[in-house]
Amino acid sequence: MMRTKIAGIGMYVPENVVTNEDLTKVMDTSDAWIQERTGIRERRFATRFEDTTATMGAEAARRAMERAGVTAADIDFIIFATLSPDYYFPGCGVLVQRQLGMGEIGALDIRNQCSGFVYGLSIADQFIKTGMYKNILLIGSETHSYALDFSTRGRNVSVIFGDGAGAVVLQPTDHPNQGILSTHLHSDGNDAESLSMPNPGFHGGKLWDKVKPVQPDQPYGGMFITQDLLDKDDLYPYMDGPAVFKKAVVKFPEVIREALTKNQLSAKDISLLIPHQANLRIAQFVQQELGLSAEQVHNNIQRYGNTTAASVPIALCEAWELGKVKEGDLVCLAAFGSGFTWGSALLRW
Ligand code: COA
Repeated sequence: MMRTKIAGIGMYVPENVVTNEDLTKVMDTSDAWIQERTGIRERRFATRFEDTTATMGAEAARRAMERAGVTAADIDFIIFATLSPDYYFPGCGVLVQRQLGMGEIGALDIRNQCSGFVYGLSIADQFIKTGMYKNILLIGSETHSYALDFSTRGRNVSVIFGDGAGAVVLQPTDHPNQGILSTHLHSDGNDAESLSMPNPGFHGGKLWDKVKPVQPDQPYGGMFITQDLLDKDDLYPYMDGPAVFKKAVVKFPEVIREALTKNQLSAKDISLLIPHQANLRIAQFVQQELGLSAEQVHNNIQRYGNTTAASVPIALCEAWELGKVKEGDLVCLAAFGSGFTWGSALLRW
């Protein structure tokens, strides 16, 4: 049976390193608090007027295409996962298509936040297995630093996130011991606002518990960005950290076990687990819960922070560059995030 393989992988992170100590200069926080709660020591921030979510994604894509031995002309579909697009619309997929000079191929943007890359992988897998496409470019890229609240009020969110991009080229393979074995996607919208950025949004003032009121200042339109929102500085992401933590530590192990069970494998068979880099404490909990050794899990949140849709491909790329992923290895990717959405993918490298 035809499967989908990762033919090339690449990453790009901006040069600008921002340490926890740097953040203490703009908000009331400490290196000790951040490291103890999240494991993060530093993260990368994009360079204004230079890096964008699309340009960083394109750079990661260029590296992935080079490693896959393909050119822009070979790519027949783009999937772009991000929660921090350059524009509200159009999405970043078409910006990459333009920047890399690709043909008039399909470009799909997906909005699944931290699970975006795993969701994208699953979508690509279906297109490749049906024979529709032969070279899919899947990108996860984020520029959080342009839009977070770096005052003390926003510290529970802003210390966690970083910027960067990762990309893969996906191709069909008929090798019996290679490729994606299965993908598993889930969601639960009951806590949609627990990790959200409701404004600016087209919600028209309809309120959920955690969304603050929006005052329309004219009978039609004008609700997208109101003076009220600007006055209250209410244009930042909201996160109920403990609620996210509690759900993540249940859903991560659950969805990894689901993938293992589906393929009649067990945790000891995993060569390398790449968990979405949400928080080192969450990753350590998952490792312990599944009885995995430290060698079986690759974490790099310490140096990059949480890069949302980019975190899985960045961690996978880094692990591959370090020689931690070899031919035939069983690799498990798992993610959880805003929505809530979560998912896993099991593949033979
Ligand atoms: N520096 C210093 N103090 C901070 C702080 C910061 N950056 N952020 C919050 N605090 C303070 C709070 O104001 C609060 O103070 P108080 O007790 O005086 O009110 C205290 O620390 C505890 O806040 P709380 O939010 O309960 O902390 P926590 O122990 O739950 O840790 C997170 C906060 C965000 C680190 C933690 O909840 C978490 O990691 N959640 C999961 C987040 C996540 O993974 N998100 C991405 C999902 S993809």
